[in-house]
Amino acid sequence: MNTFSSKALLGISLIAFSVANVYADTAPAVKPVVEQIVDTLTTLSGGPHAGYRANHAKGIIVDGEFTAAPTASAITKASYLQGKTSTPVTVRFSDATGVPNMPDADGNGFPKGMAIRFSLPKEEITDMVVISVNGFPAANPEDFLGLLNAVAATKADSPKPSLVEQFLESHPAAKKFVTTPKPAPVSFANQPFFGVNAFKFTNAKGEVHYGRYLINPLAGAKYLTKDETAKAASNYLMEELPARLKTGTVQYSIALQVAQKGDVTNDATVGWPADRKVVNLGTLTLKAMNADGVKFEKGAMYNPLTLVDGIEPSDDPVLLARPAAYAVSFGRRAGK
Ligand code: HEM
Repeated sequence: MNTFSSKALLGISLIAFSVANVYADTAPAVKPVVEQIVDTLTTLSGGPHAGYRANHAKGIIVDGEFTAAPTASAITKASYLQGKTSTPVTVRFSDATGVPNMPDADGNGFPKGMAIRFSLPKEEITDMVVISVNGFPAANPEDFLGLLNAVAATKADSPKPSLVEQFLESHPAAKKFVTTPKPAPVSFANQPFFGVNAFKFTNAKGEVHYGRYLINPLAGAKYLTKDETAKAASNYLMEELPARLKTGTVQYSIALQVAQKGDVTNDATVGWPADRKVVNLGTLTLKAMNADGVKFEKGAMYNPLTLVDGIEPSDDPVLLARPAAYAVSFGRRAGK
């Protein structure tokens, strides 16, 4: 027999409710990790910088078109990846950090970012948001916050080993990412990009594959020498692309590295063997600078989880945390 009457249980829960309320009034609220990340990104950039993204603050907007490759439909039933479908795109290239005037060749301005918005029929959209390094420093948002906090707490005169040195020693993935060479490209037209997080793809037959985006410039990957990097003008990348587009287009292939059974699909710090199958999804052609780019970038929030039927997120916690972090940043910059 149940020894607790429902009245007694109600009493317990009422006490719990009032204790929780008193506690909520007095105890400092713990912010969600994604909000703490945005706070630390803002501190690191010397912000807040009103109206700018907390990360990848400096950018330019370009218009173009994506044409699917016939091979894509074997991987996914996504509408814009069928046959030779063409889709208008709005692309944002960016430098890392929340510093709005980050010099393009500065080591802190890496990885570069590329965000692609595909405008589908009936005002539907889908986004791809990728970076210029094939990897990520953290397997989850908590470790990403740990790294950022360690960087923020380390000053030039911090005793050795500094907090960031200690963090890197105890987190090999972060050390690998931080020490991966990130050479300055000759142009955004010569920069490869990587999806890093895996997605789940389903084709019309119901077959499922996991894959990571690989975006390769058709003009080839080309980088500045050390000397050229040191001498590069502050806006050399942001100014070179508009000049290039006056006389021609800029193209990239968008492909998918397909996981094999047993490959890790929920951890962006773990790469897959280079011999994995790569399926061509199509060709991205950039045609002209967006006529109203500043207005567009202020009003837009690219979101890697704005997806269409046939593409779903993997259960990578970094991927799943991104939309909330971007929304915090967007909420703070919108309308400013
Ligand atoms: C937990 C992990 C991550 C956090 C907390 C984070 C945070 C952010 C934030 C706050 C923004 C600014 C968003 C806005 O105001 O619109 C941003 C932008 C961006 N992020 Fe992340 N990010 C994460 C992981 C990644 C990964 C894995 C990639 C790529 C593979 C990536 C690529 C980008 C790019 C390209 C932008 C600029 C988008 C644009 O041009 O609007 N981020 N990120």
